[in-house]
Amino acid sequence: MSTFQAPKGTYDLIPPDSAKFLAVREAIAAPLRNSGYGYIETPGFENVELFARGVGESTDIVTKEMYAFETKGGDQLALRPEGTASVLRAALEANLHKAGNLPVKLWYSGSYYRYERPQKGRYRHFSQVGAEAIGAEDPALDAELIILADQAYRSLGLREFRILLNSLGDKECRPVYRAALQDFLHGLDLDEETLRRADINPLRVLDDKRPDVQKQLTEAPLLRDYLCDACKAYHEEVRELITAAGVAFEDDPRLVRGLDYYTRTTFEFVHDGLGSQSAVGGGGRYDGLSEMIGGPALPSVGWALGVDRTVLALEAEGVELELPSTTSVFAVPLGDEARRLLFAKVTELRKVGIAADFSYGHKGLKGAMKNANRSGARYTVVAGERDLADGVVQLKDMESGDQTAVGVNEIVAELESRLG
Ligand code: HAM
Repeated sequence: MSTFQAPKGTYDLIPPDSAKFLAVREAIAAPLRNSGYGYIETPGFENVELFARGVGESTDIVTKEMYAFETKGGDQLALRPEGTASVLRAALEANLHKAGNLPVKLWYSGSYYRYERPQKGRYRHFSQVGAEAIGAEDPALDAELIILADQAYRSLGLREFRILLNSLGDKECRPVYRAALQDFLHGLDLDEETLRRADINPLRVLDDKRPDVQKQLTEAPLLRDYLCDACKAYHEEVRELITAAGVAFEDDPRLVRGLDYYTRTTFEFVHDGLGSQSAVGGGGRYDGLSEMIGGPALPSVGWALGVDRTVLALEAEGVELELPSTTSVFAVPLGDEARRLLFAKVTELRKVGIAADFSYGHKGLKGAMKNANRSGARYTVVAGERDLADGVVQLKDMESGDQTAVGVNEIVAELESRLG
């Protein structure tokens, strides 16, 4: 071990497990690519104000969890704690919304940073794949995103996840509800800090995990009962479209999310095999965010799925992903002449798209065959001086153990035909 270790709350992705993370990212991205979402990549850090304004001044993410710092040049930056504000900032900056093709549909994949208390499933560096559909108010778009997330999880073989759905209303009806909730909260026996939170962001109090607080909240007014007609109709349409697609969900009138930009549709994907960090993904509509960061009105909706937690969910369900073997052919040369010949053959195999590897380090037959076995290759190609004199190489099928001599000039074509 070196003198250094991975920072607290972080971990390294290393083979063979790292292949699972790649497969999960790919499985989440595939349905998005197939549905008109284009790939976007933004910097790992942004102006700190973007998140303060976008995610919300009073959220835990902004007040407690942000890696904020001043650069040598005096800029106030923060490592991105989430992707939505950055993606919207980038879309506005590139004027994507003016190209006359709304909604702008984007997907992304990357690292995010939150200074949280580390525990299983909660890290300070984690990975998300996300999707944002910018510039359209259409319940079909909300439904599309929920259906695509469901499809992604199912394509991985996950079964035991649930979709929780709620509406957080809009700028018409939420203030009325907010006032009613504040009245209710001020009648409870709450500590100073919680009462302060009730003043700034009363919906967050509903998410308080402490049992003595939860006990007092059973009679709390629900936003569901305050939705205006437009929000009610919108939500009903989303529910109908998801139902028609055969995607099961649960209405959760108490679902509030940890970010302030949400309006109307909000949802979370939870997996019951994960303990307290059960949210494998979440998202919703954010019709006011663009204006909050200085842009025009652009009603939008999106989600982000946590890659780390999705991998944990797969493990909790005992799902083994079918990962393609990384190496199909392993070449074992015995002697210098064979070394030059097989090295050239490996290069040729790779050119025709066959995954091939080579025994490096001048190993003897025994050590080289051990590497061949570990590589998981289906075939090994061995060549020694006598083989070369006969103009052949030995092709060994690692599953059956069968070995045949194949002409030096035929070996690439032979492997191509055997590997299909
Ligand atoms: P979020 O719910 O904060 O939403 O994060 C989405 C997912 O990222 C979570 O469900 C979880 O799986 C994963 N995640 C979050 N924090 C951690 C952590 N500390 N360790 C491991 N995994 C974590 C957002 O980030 C919104 N930007 C989603 C969105 C997109 N809403 C609209 N568009």
